[in-house]
This record gives sequence, structure tokens and C-alpha cells, in this order.
Amino acid sequence: MKKVEDYIRTIVDFPHEGIMFRDVTTLFADPRGFRMAIDQMLHPYAGVEIDKVVGLEARGFILGGAIAHQLSVGFVPIRKKGKLPGTTISQDYKLEYGEAIVEIHDDAIEAGEKVLVVDDLLATGGTAEAGIKLLERLGGEIVSTAFIIDLPDLGGRARLEAMGMEVHALCAFEGL
Ligand code: PRP
Ligand code: MG
Repeated sequence: MKKVEDYIRTIVDFPHEGIMFRDVTTLFADPRGFRMAIDQMLHPYAGVEIDKVVGLEARGFILGGAIAHQLSVGFVPIRKKGKLPGTTISQDYKLEYGEAIVEIHDDAIEAGEKVLVVDDLLATGGTAEAGIKLLERLGGEIVSTAFIIDLPDLGGRARLEAMGMEVHALCAFEGL
């Protein structure tokens, strides 16, 4: 039987030379692959209390929406700066080149709510860390973080675990 990683396409030298881009669109487009990924991402949370699923823009929305629906809980987006219409709080984080800012509606999470953070890929962990900081500022209690792909050589897992986070990923790729 095919595994989740078998559905992920690798594109060499994208977005620039030397990068092996792990493309999850082929996983999302396959009916068995997508269901397998969602089922496996949910597996650690059977019987675990979760009030909200938070997805990180953009690919985390696709996964987070399906996971929230399956858990019958609400979904909350963390978006790139300037996209959310209501009152927001912001957090900056480092990219390979330069900086970026993510935002969340300041009323999206109530203090004490139990939150599951979802994204497609964990690389340096900068995106996830920024999202976690926003949720902590709103008083959210982060139950766990869930990804399809971990790139352990980029240190994201170690970074999140050093913050006390639980990290689940369905597969890992060595190197960049
Ligand atoms: C990619 C990926 C993760 C993030 C991981 O998103 O989808 O969100 O990078 O990298 P990090 O662990 O080093 O922060 P990207 O910023 O390319 O944006 P997108 O999901 O909107 O395409
Ligand atoms: Mg992303």
C-alpha cells in the first residue's frame, strides 16, 4: 500500500537552485492520499480534548479545515499581514530572506481554549513559532502541533520542542 510520502512530489531547484521543494498538491489531489493524510494527522488526537483547530496560511488551511470538520470543532486562520478584516494582533518572524508578519483576530481564541495547530510542513519552525506566540498571547492552551512533513535538518522540531510543544509529523525528509 502507498504511504503518505509516496504521494508527495519533489520538485528540484524550486523556488531557487539547491532547494528540493516538497509539493503536497499531488497528495491533496489524490482521493486516497488526502484521506490517508487527514486520518493519520487525526490519529494522535483520539480522545484528546480540543476546542479549536488553527491553520497556518496557506496550506495549513486545507488540512486544518478538514481536521476541524472531523473533530466537529471550529477552525481559526492565522493569516499573512493585512488579510484579516477584524481587529488583529501581529507577530513578526524571520524568513530565509527578510521578515514576514502573521496575524490572528484578537477574539478568535478565548483564554483557556485548547488549540491544535496545523500546517503542511515544518522547516525552520519560524512560521509555527510565530503562530504559537499569537495563540499564547490570546491565552490559548496549545495541545499539540501537527504537520505532514518534517525537515529535521532545518531544526523546526527541536525549536518547537524546546518551547515545550508536542510535535507530530507524518513523514520526514533528510536534507533541505
Ligand atoms: C511554507 C510551509 C510552512 C512554512 C514552513 O509556507 O507551508 O508554512 O513554509 O517553514 P518554516 O518552518 O521555516 O517557517 P510558506 O511561507 O512558503 O507560505 P504558504 O504556505 O502560504 O505557501
Ligand atoms: Mg505555509
